[in-house]
Amino acid sequence: MADDIQLPDDTEDFSKSAYEKYAEQEDVDPRCIPIKLEAAVPEHEAIEYPEYPEHDHETWKTLYSRQVQQVPGRACKEYLEGMRILGLQADRLPSLRDISLTLDEMVGWRVARIPGLLDTNDFFSFMARAHFPSTDYIRQPDELEYTPAPDCFHDIFGHMPTLTNPFFSKFFQYFSQVFLRVSDPKEIRQLERFYWFTVEFGLINTEAGRRIYGAGILSSPKEVPYSLSDAVEVIDFNPERIGAQDYEVWHLQPLLFAIDSFEQLESEFRSWAKQKGWDA
Ligand SMILES: [Fe+2]
Repeated sequence: MADDIQLPDDTEDFSKSAYEKYAEQEDVDPRCIPIKLEAAVPEHEAIEYPEYPEHDHETWKTLYSRQVQQVPGRACKEYLEGMRILGLQADRLPSLRDISLTLDEMVGWRVARIPGLLDTNDFFSFMARAHFPSTDYIRQPDELEYTPAPDCFHDIFGHMPTLTNPFFSKFFQYFSQVFLRVSDPKEIRQLERFYWFTVEFGLINTEAGRRIYGAGILSSPKEVPYSLSDAVEVIDFNPERIGAQDYEVWHLQPLLFAIDSFEQLESEFRSWAKQKGWDA
């Protein structure tokens, strides 16, 4: 570990995630309180296509059309290739079942339809067995700019394309398996930070320049240009350093980390997990 890494100090409250801390505030949006699943949810071919009201398709169309113009030259090539593979329509909400069939064929992942923000253990339990837990409802028309709650625009537009990449999906499954093995609250916080700064807010260095792969950026109209602007401090990928980096969920991210490849993401996470004794 490099000398300049400041590990989280012990005065911090490691017992709660950013979402759990938020859930304790007043006037909390009920959609942001994590739920613990009590029954099985539909998966893969069993997922039915909802009868969406027309305004939901309009919301998808507005969000999709705006965001799809932003990603060329900004998103990484693996994401753009995933978009091509998924072939999402601009004017109709996608079918989770169809996406599940494509992911299964490409990388052996499937989709599970979930009702909202999941309890962390439930969330990673799906991914540990190569199932992506996705919502199928979309934000309200007055939330086009921002919604604090999960919705299928974030889940599908943000996450699904990159999942078609074998290195990324392999990393994601392994990460989730590791997450479920860790019980020390301080180590869980390190892993949550790692997840945040890679899966949700990761950047990647390419020959063509810096690009985005994080789903939290790619599904946000403001984060896409902001994340590649000079306003953001970008730090080289280093798992231990990321684990020491706190973040806040509710504003544009001022500090991000850049990997050099998905192979590096997978192999260096694997080495870190071994070094920490998290590897089974
Ligand atoms: Fe996400």
